[in-house]
Amino acid sequence: MSLDLWTTNEGLNVSLADMWAYSSNLFNSTCSVCHSVPKEEHLLANQWIGNLNAMKRYTSLTPDQYRLLLGYLQNHSMDVHENIGAH
Ligand code: HEC
Repeated sequence: MSLDLWTTNEGLNVSLADMWAYSSNLFNSTCSVCHSVPKEEHLLANQWIGNLNAMKRYTSLTPDQYRLLLGYLQNHSMDVHENIGAH
């Protein structure tokens, strides 16, 4: 059998500011272990894909955390952050 459940999205959505704050903490705690934590603006959005992929094996990020962190870095990267005013 199957059961469909419906709910409102109230309480399921976190605010963007909360999500970025969580991501920022994750970034600072995960990426400061071996070297000083790089600036989000250090790389272009496209470059973060390869860099984070290279750093992945050094971390214990879950797949969800990895995707969130990549989204955070790309949205705050050299070529994107000014355009969306994310800082
Ligand atoms: C276990 C150690 C370790 C951890 C944790 C780590 N790094 Fe690195 N990182 C390195 C080493 C070693 C290098 C230099 C050699 C290399 O590039 O592989 C480096 C280099 C870098 C560079 C420099 C590349 C460049 O273009 O100048 C960046 C940016 C970077 N890491 C980002 C990150 C990010 C983001 C995280 C968190 C997801 C992270 N690192 C976590 C070890 C680590």
